[in-house]
Amino acid sequence: MLNNPWQRHKDLISIHDLTAEEVEALFQLAANVKARPDRYRTALAGQTLAMIFEKSSTRTRVSFEVGMYQLGGLATFLSSRDIQIGRGEPIADTARVLSRYVNGIMARTFAHATVTDLAAHATIPVINGLTDLLHPCQALTDYFTMREVFGHTRGLTLAYVGDGNNMAHSLMFGGPKVGANVRIATPEGYRPRPEIVELAQADARAAGTTVELFSRPEEAVRDAHVVYTDVWASMGQEAEAAQRLQAFAGYQVTPELMELADKDAVFMHCLPAHRGEEVAAAVADGPRSVIFDEAENRLHVQKAIMLMLMNR
Ligand code: CP
Ligand code: NVA
Repeated sequence: MLNNPWQRHKDLISIHDLTAEEVEALFQLAANVKARPDRYRTALAGQTLAMIFEKSSTRTRVSFEVGMYQLGGLATFLSSRDIQIGRGEPIADTARVLSRYVNGIMARTFAHATVTDLAAHATIPVINGLTDLLHPCQALTDYFTMREVFGHTRGLTLAYVGDGNNMAHSLMFGGPKVGANVRIATPEGYRPRPEIVELAQADARAAGTTVELFSRPEEAVRDAHVVYTDVWASMGQEAEAAQRLQAFAGYQVTPELMELADKDAVFMHCLPAHRGEEVAAAVADGPRSVIFDEAENRLHVQKAIMLMLMNR
């Protein structure tokens, strides 16, 4: 790509690393890719993406694999159970070996350090496909979807209700980049990590937006344009599921909670959803829900991410 707006980036690890202009350029490209996919059919011809998965996935795996195919390339699925990482081969060696075969790596891992180590040692782009800390591809897609729904994102408020997890962290990083305010409502012991809050609030101050923490969902949701939630027990926290079910009682996104939001508010969820836990079925499957638009947009936004990083 001539004059690639992401020229200074080798990898996509965190939205915090991107400028507002870089996010806007990504969204413009994603919108073009979505409107005219035929124009990009050979953009990554002959290129291969290695996809390392330590955790399960439906959307991330399928959207990257199909996206790479639609760009003329090949994606190869590497479960950590089957490759030598699972038997102790160093991340650094894996990164250096894959760099000799393929043109990009997408990785979904437990420890965030695994993705940053891959990026440090690979000579090719590394894309974060979710870690315990962050989920940048999903949050970028969510703000892209918000932009489609409302025509813009500036001055809008996204209220996230539930666990202060990887999704909450990436949404907090994304808000300031798109001019949106972010409110996070969690039970006391489940707040987002303080170091992430600090960075996101500094970004927000610089951007003239806000990132605020709440304890009561009702306060966070009042007049919000987007109400967002995610599972109460993330991948890797299965043993805490019963305890979390109790801790998050009162944090379900119900039709009554949605009533407090703006009259045109939409409901978002990264999926997979647990109806009857973090969201009532009437909301997830109701007229304000855009959950399947978000899921579809993963394909278009990630094709744009791969073009930014791999079409050079
Ligand atoms: N939202 C998301 O990343 O879904 P998967 O876990 O199915 O990839
Ligand atoms: N917070 C969830 C997101 C899944 C896409 C998890 O990490 O399991």
